[in-house]
Amino acid sequence: MSTTDAIAHPNQPDLDPFLAWLRHGRGASPVHPDENQPTWQLFGHADIHRVLSDPATFSSDMSKFIPPQSDFALFSRGNFVRMDPPMHRKLRDLVSQVFTPRVVSGLAPRIAAITGELLDGVGGAGRFDLVGALAYPLPVIVIAELLGIPVADRESFRRWADALLSREDTGALPDAATMNRMAPTLREMNEYLLAHIRQRRVRPTDDLIGKLVCAELDGHRLEDEEIVGFVGLLLIAGHITTTALVGNAILCLDENPAAAAELRADPAGIPAAIEEVLRYRPPFPRLARRTTTEVELGGKRIPADQILMLWLASANRDPAQFEDPDRFNIHRKPNPHLSFGYSIHFCLGAPLARLEAKIALEILLDRYRSIAVARDERGEFFNPFTMISAKRLPVDVEAARALRRAASA
Ligand code: HEM
Repeated sequence: MSTTDAIAHPNQPDLDPFLAWLRHGRGASPVHPDENQPTWQLFGHADIHRVLSDPATFSSDMSKFIPPQSDFALFSRGNFVRMDPPMHRKLRDLVSQVFTPRVVSGLAPRIAAITGELLDGVGGAGRFDLVGALAYPLPVIVIAELLGIPVADRESFRRWADALLSREDTGALPDAATMNRMAPTLREMNEYLLAHIRQRRVRPTDDLIGKLVCAELDGHRLEDEEIVGFVGLLLIAGHITTTALVGNAILCLDENPAAAAELRADPAGIPAAIEEVLRYRPPFPRLARRTTTEVELGGKRIPADQILMLWLASANRDPAQFEDPDRFNIHRKPNPHLSFGYSIHFCLGAPLARLEAKIALEILLDRYRSIAVARDERGEFFNPFTMISAKRLPVDVEAARALRRAASA
C-alpha cells in the first residue's frame, strides 16, 4: 500500500514500516542486533523452513531464558507448543484426534448457526464492529463449547488474551517487567481453568476438559496442574488467531475489490483466498526457537543456546519463494506460506481455523452486497511486530436480501 493509499484509507493498519523492516532484514539475514538477549533474526523462507523442520537442533523449549515465576511455571507444565519430543508428541497425541479435518468438518452446521445468530444481532445494514460482532465471538464460542467452559465468560477470555498478547517490550521473550505485568492475568486464568478441571473430577463430562481429565499418559492420569497449560493453550491459541484471520480477510478484500467480487460470484474460491490472506497477513508474524548446538545458518556460525526469531511474515513475502510476493493473489498456487508453522508443531487447530474462516466469509459475502471498511472511524490494531490483527474494525455493510427485495418490488 502506498503512502497516498494510507491517507485515503485511514482505517487500514499501517504495515508499511514493519514490512520495510522485514524487507531490509531479508537482505541482511541472519543478524544479531539485540544487546540484551542472545537473539538472531531470521527472515528467509529457506532458513526458517529448515529451522522448523529440525526440532533436535532448534528447540521450542525457552524455559532457560525465562526468569522463574510461579504463574508462568504452572501455565508451562502442559503447554506443549513450548516442548520438544518425546513429551511434545505424547501430549499432542492426546488431543490430535479432536482436531482432524474429518472430525472438525462435523462442526460446520454449528459454526454456520453461530455465525448466523451473531450477524442477526447486528441487523441487515449500516455500520458495526466486525471484530466485536463476529470475528471475536465466533471462534471463542466454538472453542469454549469444545472445551466445555461457559461461553458467558468470554469477556474474561478476551481480557486474558489481550493482556498476554499485547507486549510493550521488543525482545524475543518477555522480560521481567512484562512477566510481572502478565502474572496476575495468568494467575486468574490458571485458577479459573483449575476450578473447571477439578469439577470434572467430581462430575465427569464428555467435553475436551472431561476427556483430558480421564486421559492417560505412560499409564498415569494427567495431573490437574498439567491440564491447566494444555487447556490454556487451546483456549488462547484457539480463538485469538482466528479472530485475526477473519478481520485480516475483510481488510484484504477491502483493499482488493476485484478479488471480493470474484469470490462473491464463485465462493468455491474462498479456501484458496483464505490461504492467501494467511500468507499476506499472518496472525502470528514470528516464532521463536533455541539452538541446542552450534550451527551454520545463512553463512553465519550461531553458537548453542541462542534465540532465533523466525519472521514468518517475512518468509511469506520472500521473493525467492513467492512470485510477486507483495501482490495479494487469491489464485496463488502453490502457496507454501508458513503462517501455521511447519513440521511437528504445525498448528493443531489449522483445520478448525480454516473451516471457521471459510464459513464466516461465505455467510458474510452472501448476506451483504457490500462490506466496506469504514473510512471515517478508526479501528484498533495490535502492534504488527507481535500480532497482525484488528482489535476493532468498523465496517459499513449493505444487505443483499433487502436489495434483492427492493429490486423485485
Ligand atoms: C488462523 C488461525 C491460527 C493461526 C495463524 C495459528 C498459528 C499457529 C502457529 C504458527 C503454530 C506453530 C507454533 C510453533 O511452531 O511454535 C501453532 C500451533 C498451535 N496451534 Fe494454532 N493457529 C491458529 C488457530 C488455532 C486454533 C483454532 C487452535 C485450537 C483449536 C490452535 C491450536 C494450536 C496448538 C495447540 C498449537 C501447538 C501445536 C504443537 O506444538 O504441536 N491454533 N498455531
